[in-house]
Amino acid sequence: RNILAVASECAPMVKTGGLADVVGALPHALAPHDLKIRTLIPGYPAVMAQIGKAKPLFTRKDLLGHPARILAAKCHGLDLLILDAPALFARGGTPYLDESGKDWRDNDLRFAALSFAAAEIAAGAVKDWRPDVLHLHDWQAGLTPVYMQEMGATQPCVMTIHNMAFHGLTSRNRLKSLRLPASGFDIDGFEYYGHISALKAGLTMAQALTTVSPTYAQELMTPEFGMGLDGVIRARAGALTGILNGIDTNLWCPQSDPAIKPFSSPAGKARNTQALRAEFGLADSDGPLAVVVSRLSDQKGLDLLLQALPALIGRGGQLALLGSGDRQLEHAWLTAAAANPQHIGVRIGYDDALSRRMFAGADAVLVPSRFEPCGLTQLYGLRYGALPVVARTGGLADTVIHANAAALATKCATGITHKPDSVPALTAALTQLCTLYADQPLFQRLQGNAMTQPVGWEASAPLYAALFNRLATDAQEAP
Ligand code: ADP
Ligand code: GLC
Repeated sequence: RNILAVASECAPMVKTGGLADVVGALPHALAPHDLKIRTLIPGYPAVMAQIGKAKPLFTRKDLLGHPARILAAKCHGLDLLILDAPALFARGGTPYLDESGKDWRDNDLRFAALSFAAAEIAAGAVKDWRPDVLHLHDWQAGLTPVYMQEMGATQPCVMTIHNMAFHGLTSRNRLKSLRLPASGFDIDGFEYYGHISALKAGLTMAQALTTVSPTYAQELMTPEFGMGLDGVIRARAGALTGILNGIDTNLWCPQSDPAIKPFSSPAGKARNTQALRAEFGLADSDGPLAVVVSRLSDQKGLDLLLQALPALIGRGGQLALLGSGDRQLEHAWLTAAAANPQHIGVRIGYDDALSRRMFAGADAVLVPSRFEPCGLTQLYGLRYGALPVVARTGGLADTVIHANAAALATKCATGITHKPDSVPALTAALTQLCTLYADQPLFQRLQGNAMTQPVGWEASAPLYAALFNRLATDAQEAP
């Protein structure tokens, strides 16, 4: 069957977070299930530079007001469709932000154009190829079913929620510019407190909804996590499933990762740990070396970690952090490192190879998020024998087996979980990390458990495949 995936990022071409990893990994994970995925992404400069020779499939003089082409290219084993619309995407900055870190003012139009192009493809604009199902990722693809309806395209859509915090809101006076039908501006459609919400369009109109972990699927129904859309989710509870993310275990492999000194057992990590201390200018120490690799945003709880840090440092532990984002958080972390350079190392920026050296060298990876739809760094931590210490929320709760007495007795613990959004709970978790670390035979056994826990797509790919196949079959059988 043919699937059209629609997303604003796709690794390794363009990535700001976990969304890109998942969009980049699913086509490989689903190929053995007889699903052929083509992925539609915007033609940002980084994408255009990587695709080399691309084949134009169709051209529009006026795609929501701008000239555009759809190109086809094979790149990194992915079958890509690229929305080449220079007026919208040939810019510096990130996919969402300008060089000064502010949202592009026309983000509504840019991603409406992506969704419009997806709908055209569903409606048959590409000669000889039509998707049986569309897979829409986050708000950037959310308007697709609205445009499909306008164009008379009837294929089923699956809307996947990677992060409910981003709604894709814009003013109602943009209805005309985005060529949205006024009839959809309704409480049962894409209207959200007087604004247009691209996410709500997808949530109300897609045939099926998924999110990236079973626990987040439950959490989304509550006001605490639903970000104002929990009512919509509750109304569609029967259409929603939580399917846990995996990671590409070929690209994240401690035996073959070219960025690190290869290892296949916890003991083999030592050379990486030594190198990591040296790289961050940290002193030798008897305590655990913990790492954080993260966007710096309120979601990630790294302000809580700053407050809980004495529990780690006071017991000989150390922390190396790589991240960027919120300027205040960047400043706070740099200040903490300057005050205690022997124990805290901070790099502000984005660096894939460094992140790999960190997972390889670390004794633990910390993810103290307030909410976390799935989270990927705890999975990299498991794979590379860096014990995850995580808040018990979303996908973090679904992927880490807490080292309580029962799990220790049955030898199945893979990390430490703690109550979210609580400095005392995080403090206790860091204290437990130091205690476990002091018993090296036990700690290495936990690391061994972590390294052998399955973290690939083997469990989740069949769930996506079953969903896509069921929707395609239902659509075929519909009168
Ligand atoms: P989110 O998508 O909310 O940012 P995830 O844990 O799902 O959280 O995914 C984040 C992804 O981005 C991971 O692959 C992580 O390794 C990567 N990442 C985040 N910050 C950095 C950074 N500063 N340098 C390198 N990789 C990073
Ligand atoms: C989002 C979430 C993260 C998830 C990622 C991939 O960015 O914040 O938890 O792992 O999407 O699904």
